[in-house]
Amino acid sequence: MGFWKSLFSTTDTTTSPKPAELNSSTASAVTIGNSRIFFSTDREIDLYELEELCDAVGWSRRPLRKVKKAIQHSFLVVSMWEQRGTQRRLVGFSRATSDHAFNATIWDVVVHPDFQGKGLGKALMRQMIKRLRSEDISNITLFADPHVIDFYRGLGFMPDPEGIKGMFWYPD
Ligand SMILES: CC(C)(COP(=O)(O)OP(=O)(O)OC[C@H]1O[C@@H](n2cnc3c(N)ncnc32)[C@H](O)[C@@H]1OP(=O)(O)O)[C@@H](O)C(=O)NCCC(=O)NCCS
Repeated sequence: MGFWKSLFSTTDTTTSPKPAELNSSTASAVTIGNSRIFFSTDREIDLYELEELCDAVGWSRRPLRKVKKAIQHSFLVVSMWEQRGTQRRLVGFSRATSDHAFNATIWDVVVHPDFQGKGLGKALMRQMIKRLRSEDISNITLFADPHVIDFYRGLGFMPDPEGIKGMFWYPD
């Protein structure tokens, strides 16, 4: 069970869940068709597999040595895997950085296009939030691309609460 370091002990894969069940914060594994979907906090991620996942949603490539470092230094990594027989495939990913006390910021939220629209993005985010809350982190932030603001809003994230603006500095 080393690889599948599940976040929760309940595992019910006997029936195909409705989207509402996928959204449950207690689900650690779900079944979609012939596939079983698992969540893991094990950060032994094949960087090439992660790159393929990011390619599939059209993200720009990043140097793998930097991605590796970012994962190593993240506070939390939650990955989502499809298991078919003995084969497993990375189908979702997210990570958070943190000061380990007050704040965490979520990065790199991605679900493979084959698995989008099934409630899995929401389930992945709920795993992230639950895990961060269990570490007593109270302030969870993220940077949303304009086309996904409503996705995050549905999870309780607020854009610009009390007029607070995210500010960025880039080198010239
Ligand atoms: C954004 C993303 C993670 C959503 O994952 P998903 O598995 O398709 O989302 P879900 O099926 O869990 O959807 C959950 C809810 O959000 C809504 N939703 C999903 N994608 C949405 C979007 N782009 N805009 C608005 N709402 C969206 C769904 O309709 C659903 O609503 P409901 O709960 O009322 O039914 C996924 O589309 C993705 O990986 N996109 C490419 C990468 C990306 O843009 N990441 C975010 C970077 S900030």
